[in-house]
Amino acid sequence: MPNIVVIGTQWGDEGKGRIIDLLSKNVDVIARYQGGNNAGHTVIVDGKKIILHHLPSGILRKNKISIIGNGVVIDPKILLEEIEGLKKSGYEVNSDNLKISDRSHVIMPYHKIFDLSNEDRMGNKKIGTTGRGIGPVYEDKAARRGIKISDLLYKDYFSERLKNILVEKNLYITRILNQKPLVFDEIYNEYIEYGEQLKSYITDTSLLFNSLLKDSKKVLFEGAQGALLDIDFGTYPYVTSSNAGSGGVSSGTGVSPSNIDEVVGICKSYTTRVGEGPFPTELNGKVADLLRDCGQEYGATTGRPRRCGWFDAVSVSYSIMINGINSLVLTKLDVLSNLKKINICNGYKYKNQILKIFPSNFEVLRNCEPVYEEVDGWNCNLSDKNSGNLPPNLKNYLNRLEEILEIPIVLVSIGPSREEFIQL
Ligand code: GDP
Ligand code: IMO
Ligand code: MG
Repeated sequence: MPNIVVIGTQWGDEGKGRIIDLLSKNVDVIARYQGGNNAGHTVIVDGKKIILHHLPSGILRKNKISIIGNGVVIDPKILLEEIEGLKKSGYEVNSDNLKISDRSHVIMPYHKIFDLSNEDRMGNKKIGTTGRGIGPVYEDKAARRGIKISDLLYKDYFSERLKNILVEKNLYITRILNQKPLVFDEIYNEYIEYGEQLKSYITDTSLLFNSLLKDSKKVLFEGAQGALLDIDFGTYPYVTSSNAGSGGVSSGTGVSPSNIDEVVGICKSYTTRVGEGPFPTELNGKVADLLRDCGQEYGATTGRPRRCGWFDAVSVSYSIMINGINSLVLTKLDVLSNLKKINICNGYKYKNQILKIFPSNFEVLRNCEPVYEEVDGWNCNLSDKNSGNLPPNLKNYLNRLEEILEIPIVLVSIGPSREEFIQL
């Protein structure tokens, strides 16, 4: 298998974790390149559910190297808990199979405070973030007042930097938020300890990536969130704060685009979104409830019920184009199995026009109505199906999607466990 990027084509939670778990069997290295613990990637192995927030989903496979690239933002406490949790479940996590970029930025206590207070202040205009401090930590990175994970290994430098940064943060915390100031010593001691505990994993991963590639090792780049949550190409301002699309790989790892061979898109056979923001095919009522119940559509990170709707080919086509996706994996087909009729959105009605291209402007998008075509459901259980005995209506559904999206669907998943998939 060549070096591949695997990304979500919708608003996240497409089932990336479980598909990356499958694909990681055939690569040497699995790497996260953006986002942080706003991600929740679920993998079910031997009936046991594992949700990964910081760690690449390949960590569950033996003899693989997992890398957290420089584009990822890390909450050290959560990462350490995640490592411990996996070890307790019998997985191997050590400094040979886990590497963390020395350049990755640290989510600090004030980032979480600001994330929550920003949301609070915006009231019904809030983004609906995961509250993990993601926006504020990327803000600080861009404003050049961030703290990198390797800074935690140099006591004097970390002390000097934190002191300076904390002056400004405390001004805001006390004067604007009317809260008690954060105490330097407490944060310093806590974070120096995290640095100590993470030290053996921290390295210059850009050097490591390039030397692994030189040795012909195969890398899978694991996207978090989804293309429509990308800071540049998503439904801004209702997005996350990183480049969740394939474009984020190079800046988030130090691997040149010339080393990337293929981009695989993961797509749910319907649409979900957690948090606020435009969602043209959103449903309310019986079908939405059915999708949410059958698909267990509750956030893997925050537990929030996910908003549910029909498959939106307009937005997925756009994701395919922007990210250079070569092939598609369609997940959660089993969730549609009880439906007699299924809708596919193949255009948006905006004023008196029919749009076939996903609008870049928020004001246009929020006034778009979906235009549907209806197809027959297959209305049967898929657990005993393979590529040779697919129900005709399911074949029609897949063929129609391939036709509209102009891309091959190479794999479908029909249940959350490792074995529940059909290769096409
Ligand atoms: P990710 O963030 O893209 O990795 O996706 P999440 O893990 O947040 O959400 C996907 C959810 O769907 C998880 O609960 C998975 O266990 C579940 N899932 C994945 N694939 C399938 C499938 O084919 N069928 C069903 N029923 N559930 C699935
Ligand atoms: P995975 O990797 C679904 C959403 C939040 C919110 C917006 C901004 O599991 O697919 P943030 O905390 O990033 O500032 O929130 O993005 N969001 C996700 N939605 N899946 C995710 O990750 C998400 N990560 C962030 O709900 O709408
Ligand atoms: Mg998720």
